[in-house]
Amino acid sequence: MADAKKGAFMTWVDDRFPFTETMEYHMTKYYAPKNFNFWYYFGVLSMVMLVIQIVTGIFLTMNYKPDGAKAFASVEYIMRDVNFGDILRYMHSTGASFFFIVVYLHMFRALLYGSYQKPRELIWVFGMVIYLCLMAEAFMGYLLPWGQMSYWGAQVIINLFNTIPFIGPALTEWVRGDYIVSDITLNRFFAFHVIALPLVLAALVFLHIVALHHVGSNNPDGIDIKKNKDENGVPKDGIAFHPYYTVKDTFGLSVFLTFFFMVVFFMPEMGGYFLEHANFIPADPLKTPEHIAPVWYFTPFYAMLRAVPPIAGSAFPGVLVMFGAIIVLFFLPWLDRGKVRSIRYRSAMYKVLLGLFVVSFVVLGYYGIQPPSFWGTLLSRICTFYYFAYFALLWWMSGNENTKPVPERVTS
Ligand code: HEM
Repeated sequence: MADAKKGAFMTWVDDRFPFTETMEYHMTKYYAPKNFNFWYYFGVLSMVMLVIQIVTGIFLTMNYKPDGAKAFASVEYIMRDVNFGDILRYMHSTGASFFFIVVYLHMFRALLYGSYQKPRELIWVFGMVIYLCLMAEAFMGYLLPWGQMSYWGAQVIINLFNTIPFIGPALTEWVRGDYIVSDITLNRFFAFHVIALPLVLAALVFLHIVALHHVGSNNPDGIDIKKNKDENGVPKDGIAFHPYYTVKDTFGLSVFLTFFFMVVFFMPEMGGYFLEHANFIPADPLKTPEHIAPVWYFTPFYAMLRAVPPIAGSAFPGVLVMFGAIIVLFFLPWLDRGKVRSIRYRSAMYKVLLGLFVVSFVVLGYYGIQPPSFWGTLLSRICTFYYFAYFALLWWMSGNENTKPVPERVTS
């Protein structure tokens, strides 16, 4: 019998597929804390960026040629001859940078409000795997236009495997598929960039959201809203995700897209920060560009790589430090022993440590773009040291932290 409120069609569907149940669980009866602020836009914006990258990527693939002899020219063809090709290409290249901007802000929010703490450790771990995949996705995508920076950037990064003792040279050759970065490398990077990694990313985002909706969202006060429920079992400080947050997020999205398209239309290369100048010159295996630097979102880690002095002529220690800087983030939920989640109620010490951590990361990012210099190396060393010290200090300090009392209910 058809449910009068639902209608015959929806009843038919629900008897065969849990549509209403799923919508209720994730939208209309998903009670999110009512005090979400600016920082809570970036999760949904990350999702939008993923969709933009996939959709524009599909259209670019229709005209792109993954062939060492044709790739560069096919991108120029897209830019000049394909209808709306320039917009699609710039949406995709600017999109990569905007994706990292929103993901970095999204991660910083987790540090501000202790969103990685119990019981949200797995949301954070899935997030970190997403971050790793996203870096691999961006790195492989950057080879595809087959410009000078594509080529030499890939050369430098793939050569890092060479520093691994014993297996390094064989591993490097296996990754490249050739003795140098070549058409073979381009083909495999293309396969990973257009299908393998996007599939993995989509699956990981799904797991990230499943984990989030299982435990419920944190909030700027770091309060567990499930502790205060009304007679219907609805958290008193919660509001239904739909319609309240779908409407709020639509507003956030419109503001974001305004900025995004301002950049796409008026400064897509961002003065060489989003698309480097050297990448408008076709790849030349015989001519190394004067200064090789990765795109800005990799530069904090690149600066760490350069900051560590080689031991016995090997850059392996730098490689270890660079990867270690990413790996250590996975353990954040267990390194922070704090009893209080939100920075609002944490000690002044926590604020200082976190503030310095952000400063170090930004300084490293800056020096990773610049050519090597005395001051650059010195400051990169200090910041690399502090980056790792932060985790040790956090562990030590959070074990016995002077926190403020956390209110019973969320503050508006
Ligand atoms: C494709 C990339 C990503 C997408 C689409 C995504 C999506 C989302 C969404 C929609 C939410 C809920 C809304 C919000 O809290 O803002 C969320 C929450 C969360 N995400 Fe992500 N995320 C991504 C990457 C990451 C990364 C890289 C991390 C950290 C390593 C991360 C950590 C978290 C945490 C800890 C929460 C819970 C926040 C809270 O409840 O306060 N996410 N994510």
